[in-house]
Amino acid sequence: MHDRPIIALDFPTQKEVAFFLEKFPKEEALFVKVGMELFYAEGPAIVRWLKEQGHDVFLDLKLHDIPNTVEKAMTNLAKLGVAITNVHAAGGVRMMQSAKEGLIKGTQPGAKVPELIAVTQLTSTSEEEMHHYQLINVPLETSVIHYAKCAEKAGLDGVVCSALEARGIQEATKQTFICLTPGIRPAGSAVGDQQRVVTPKHAREIGSTYIVVGRPITQAENPYEAYQEIKKDWSGK
Ligand code: C5P
Repeated sequence: MHDRPIIALDFPTQKEVAFFLEKFPKEEALFVKVGMELFYAEGPAIVRWLKEQGHDVFLDLKLHDIPNTVEKAMTNLAKLGVAITNVHAAGGVRMMQSAKEGLIKGTQPGAKVPELIAVTQLTSTSEEEMHHYQLINVPLETSVIHYAKCAEKAGLDGVVCSALEARGIQEATKQTFICLTPGIRPAGSAVGDQQRVVTPKHAREIGSTYIVVGRPITQAENPYEAYQEIKKDWSGK
């Protein structure tokens, strides 16, 4: 497991991100998540800017296209020096392999290739919707584990999953396979629109490798204090 919780920077502009980051000590190197909203507003410059300040970036763009297009896109994302990025497992094993090849091609000599993880079934998809719209007639968890195994076969490093799916995925894949889990709430905090949440400590106990935390930190009265508390509960130190 990785000590630092990943902070989801779900803000519409760089200006708002800067205002938020001012609440942390300058020397505190953070692990942050940039998603579609911020990336499509600010472009690759937002990643370069965060890296210049010493932060590690999980670029959560969930690519899903033909293998050739995904490979070329990943080469460009690797050039930005992101630490983690992702694709949809539904794009297929060939697409995931191409994504990995693209990342390798775009990584500077001597630098670490970004970790590549797959989205299995979105946590917003219900079992009923999966049956009805995707015509996948198995239990949701079976589909999640199947996609995780496909990602492993394609040479990916892990998956994004609900902490409650982590155990099953870890039993079905190799020991080093990453389970990166959002839907984290400190005990007693607001759940918001998340359905199935777990505490940082519980996520550690059930085998998450990374946790992603947004609002419990970004909306806190004192974000640095909230971050430190979550980090302590997560790392157990
Ligand atoms: O504010 P909150 O802690 O709920 O934010 C969680 C972050 O993780 C958001 O950026 C959300 O989009 C993302 N996420 C999620 N569930 C998934 C995949 C990503 O909540 N299955």
